[in-house]
Amino acid sequence: MVYPPIFTILFSLVLTPFVEAQRYGPLIPEVHPALSGQKCTSLGSCVAQAGKIVLDANRRWYHNFYEGYPACYDGVDWHPEYWPGEQALNEGCYLEGISSYSEFGVTTSGNALRLQFVTSVSQSTNVGSRVYLMADDNTYATFKALAQEITFDVDVSNLPCGIAADVHFAEMAADGGIAESAGWNNAGAKYGTGYCGAQCPRDVLFIQGHPNFNGIGPTPPPPGIGPYGFCCAEMDLWQANSFSTVMAAHSCNLSGRSKCEDDQCGGSASSGIRYNGFCDPDGCDFNPYRMGNPSFYGSGKTIDTTKKFTVVTQFITDNGTPSGSLVEIRRKYIQNGVTISNAHASVQGVDPSIDSITPAYCDQQKTAFGDMTSFQDKGGLNALGDALRRGMVLVLSIYDDRDANMLWLDSQYPPGANSNYAGVIRGTCAITSGVPADVELIYPNSSVMISNIKFGPIGSTV
Ligand SMILES: *[C@@H]1O[C@H](CO)[C@@H](O)[C@H](O)[C@H]1NC(C)=O
Ligand SMILES: *[C@@H]1O[C@H](CO)[C@@H](O)[C@H](O)[C@H]1NC(C)=O
Repeated sequence: MVYPPIFTILFSLVLTPFVEAQRYGPLIPEVHPALSGQKCTSLGSCVAQAGKIVLDANRRWYHNFYEGYPACYDGVDWHPEYWPGEQALNEGCYLEGISSYSEFGVTTSGNALRLQFVTSVSQSTNVGSRVYLMADDNTYATFKALAQEITFDVDVSNLPCGIAADVHFAEMAADGGIAESAGWNNAGAKYGTGYCGAQCPRDVLFIQGHPNFNGIGPTPPPPGIGPYGFCCAEMDLWQANSFSTVMAAHSCNLSGRSKCEDDQCGGSASSGIRYNGFCDPDGCDFNPYRMGNPSFYGSGKTIDTTKKFTVVTQFITDNGTPSGSLVEIRRKYIQNGVTISNAHASVQGVDPSIDSITPAYCDQQKTAFGDMTSFQDKGGLNALGDALRRGMVLVLSIYDDRDANMLWLDSQYPPGANSNYAGVIRGTCAITSGVPADVELIYPNSSVMISNIKFGPIGSTV
């Protein structure tokens, strides 16, 4: 009935020396891997863009300058003994660059990004990663997607049950939040700061430059949940493995970003405060399997996930221009040179001519599945459209799911629900699959390849 936390989920992270502060340090230079893309103006008219990627700030080494550079946050606990107060922490805690992204399983080549699930380097093990596309070394690329389309190729053949790749837009600040931090963050996009999302993620170590710590004790082990979260609109273009896929629109009743505190951030899937936040955590989602098409997506199916294919997502406005209101999010695929339309809804109570996310689809689907209407309540497609007009950042990740074992994507969810109820079955993975400890042990080498990112007006990219 509800969706989990795409991003309370986060990365399970077992990296040894990592800490966070939003003041950059001088010990390790940051070397962003290059990732080229294309900007199109009309079909056949695309120009190469020399982009880069940056790893999220949570993954970094945060230390102070006492002898031996002890951690301000060591991956499990904060170390308040080094700093008597927030200001002292901010002034005394430094985060560092990353000189070797491959240690985090992140590699690029030309227009292709590969994310490997588990990487072991000497004593440390890294699980999952989240990177942002950059326009230059200090600025995230900003996408104003109304009346535009974004296209990329994916290879999900090496992603089993319980591990997902994710490509989404989040309304992060293009500078990583430096301007909004009033001097508390001087690291910015160059160091991957400023992540926010519709789950109002509470594992973010610093929010607007301030440590996500209230001084009363350590946060739980990673992924730790701090007292604060950081909310913004989110458009999940691609949440998928080789078994299931979903796209989902999330609205917020905000203009831009907002820090939230405790219950005001909303809560996990089963909690009574899930819908208390500024944003809709569930999303208006389109998963072909959940929408009644078990033979559309998977190994040997209409979209054959054993092979690479192209994913196109279009943001249609009422007047066909970027100044209009968002009225529809369309999907199509291309595989082996053949264009394949999205699956149609095949669920009682949903108009079978529908194959895209529209206000009518969201209303009908939520009613048919007995789901909450928080997407509509937080402003629906209009609110997401406002965020797309202001501009959003492209986020790419690979992860497993400590809250819900990814069952919301590829199995049956909620796991206790009667599987005869409409909307419960989302894919063919076993209800016992996706336990992080299992998938990290059995499938450490799983990976996703995302390549050939193109952006431009509807009809221009493919
Ligand atoms: C946004 O939603 C929250 C939670 O439902 C509510 O408390 C708040 O008043 C809303 N804000 C606006 C501006 O509507
Ligand atoms: C993962 O890949 C490494 C390096 O190729 C290999 O040594 C290891 O056995 C693989 N692990 C599994 C579980 O397949």
